[in-house]
Amino acid sequence: MIVSNVVQQQLERASWIRRMFEEGIRLKAERGAENIFDFTLGNPSEDPPKSVQTTFQKLAQENRSGAHGYMPNAGFPAVREAIAKRLSRDTGVPFTQDSIIMTVGCAGAMNAVLKAILDPGNEVIVNMPFFPDYQFYIGNHGGRMVPAETKEDFSLDIAEIESKITPQTRVIILNSPNNPTGVIYSESALRDLEGVLKRADHPIAVLSDEPYKAYAYDGATVPEMASIISNYILTTSYSKTWSLAGERIGYTAISPRLADADSLIHACTFTNRILGFINAPAIWQLVTAEAPEALPDLSVYREKRDLMCDGLAEIGYEVSKPQGAFYVFLKTPIPDDMKFLRILQAEGVLVVPGSGFGRGGYVRLSLTVPRETIVNSLPAFARALAKIQ
Ligand SMILES: Cc1ncc(COP(=O)(O)O)c(C=O)c1O
Repeated sequence: MIVSNVVQQQLERASWIRRMFEEGIRLKAERGAENIFDFTLGNPSEDPPKSVQTTFQKLAQENRSGAHGYMPNAGFPAVREAIAKRLSRDTGVPFTQDSIIMTVGCAGAMNAVLKAILDPGNEVIVNMPFFPDYQFYIGNHGGRMVPAETKEDFSLDIAEIESKITPQTRVIILNSPNNPTGVIYSESALRDLEGVLKRADHPIAVLSDEPYKAYAYDGATVPEMASIISNYILTTSYSKTWSLAGERIGYTAISPRLADADSLIHACTFTNRILGFINAPAIWQLVTAEAPEALPDLSVYREKRDLMCDGLAEIGYEVSKPQGAFYVFLKTPIPDDMKFLRILQAEGVLVVPGSGFGRGGYVRLSLTVPRETIVNSLPAFARALAKIQ
């Protein structure tokens, strides 16, 4: 077999994703796409903001000589300067252009950071449930994922995190607003975590994965982690904020308060290159600096969230509304989420199993579907519930 044993095993661990998509394709072919309610994908439903589209068109038409060539591996200095200014304004932490590396999306940023930090056997603490690709990103660089349970309401359990720290711990990954739960971590929990990091007898970095930062509802704010956590590394992208997931544009920002920040920036610039990314897409770097700071229209998502959650609660599901991101993490009425997923599938509803995120007994619904999909799917959710009662 030409495929490595490691990748073969990873493929098996990720096989539920392939099975889910194959089943979705089969059902759509069999019953017609209009009769299938597909809640699996996390692609924002809105188009990129008009100002982003026009900035991109203007830059493409300029056709400046050299615009498509290599640049410093960390990205265009002026673009990094613009991002550093915004971050400094928002956090009060003095980021400079040297704190920023433009990356191939958030996934590219996370891989560059993990490669720069991990030696084989080093440990990375991940709060459950978690974005499934973390386990593979960590494995890419010889690390070991150490799960930490969260509380009943999916908020951070700081004592649990502290209990998982060993001499091998190098990184704690945080993702707030969270995929899949929608939870936003509180300022007080983050302050407690900073206390834990200060007490640790070796440096541990927080890798804060923030692609959903712009999605917070009902007046909730996402605490500025850079102001609270000293060993802070931000990874983010424009995939969700500006609906640019296919363009692969993001960045990492390394706090100047992090011990050894300069060496880490130097190392990440290098790992960004040798992982094969070389640099982030040139034209999209320029767009991020030049386009006005547009935010997604949250009213669209809030309305869909309320429609979905209120509709499910009325039918009899136990559901709590997400504070942020654009997913509903729904408790399944029977403990076996895979079994309930199949019952939903039989009714034409496609969802992602919670066990794929490391938390059985739940399924994830993405709110990136059109409003009518939510309305039309509710009778199918009702039939699925009736089947197990
Ligand atoms: C929590 C989380 N982190 C990272 C990513 C990767 O984002 P990007 O497309 O910018 O690489 C995603 C994408 O869905 C995500 O949900």
